[in-house]
Amino acid sequence: MNQKIMETKVGWLITCTLLAVSFGGLVELLPMIFKAQNVEAIALLKPFTALELEGRDIYIREGCHVCHTQLVRTLRSDVARYGHYSVAGEDLYERPFLWGSKRTGPDLARVGGRYSDDWHRAHLLDPRSVVSVSNMPAYPWLFERQLSGELTAKKMQALQTLGAPYTDEEIAAAGAVVAGKMESHALITYLQSLGLDMKNYQLGEKK
Ligand code: HEC
Repeated sequence: MNQKIMETKVGWLITCTLLAVSFGGLVELLPMIFKAQNVEAIALLKPFTALELEGRDIYIREGCHVCHTQLVRTLRSDVARYGHYSVAGEDLYERPFLWGSKRTGPDLARVGGRYSDDWHRAHLLDPRSVVSVSNMPAYPWLFERQLSGELTAKKMQALQTLGAPYTDEEIAAAGAVVAGKMESHALITYLQSLGLDMKNYQLGEKK
């Protein structure tokens, strides 16, 4: 089949283009699909606690992931700024994952422990009070709303079905743990948890 046939017969062009694209797609996708079943959790990886899980849902509701990624790339500049690049085994219980692709603000995959809770409170209430040039919006309503905890157990149950190793006791206690907590508290608890499992992984790896 020479180039002339390909360029003059639209049917051939479409068929061969589709074949080439599907082949390329399969070569990229298939190994990952089979490998995904073998991804091992990094040492000490734990699913989100009840409060972290609610904080994560607030993070999604407020669209934090639209400006912040949670994926440290293997680039030297990323690793120098944020720490160890992201690995598949730290995302086993991430549903949905929040890797993102747009960094208006910094990556948050390793932000846990970088700042104090007080810093986060000040930052969420008024980002300009701690970073004068920040263009991040303020989230004052997070300091006025409390969580009811009504759905927390159901959310954890759904994640348990999908493989998160929650115990039935943890699920039963979840609602009470969360009820009455400020939304800001849950969100900051979530932020402070980001990347901690990975810090343990780095320590384990060196030994
Ligand atoms: C419009 C884009 C935008 C949105 C939406 C946004 N941020 Fe930010 N964020 C930024 C920018 C820009 C910075 C860097 C300046 C600063 O620290 O305020 C930042 C910084 C941060 C930092 C400090 C990170 C570091 O390593 O210094 C945290 C934590 C953070 N944001 C959390 C959040 C959370 C939580 C939300 C959702 C409630 C959110 N952001 C929503 C733009 C955004």
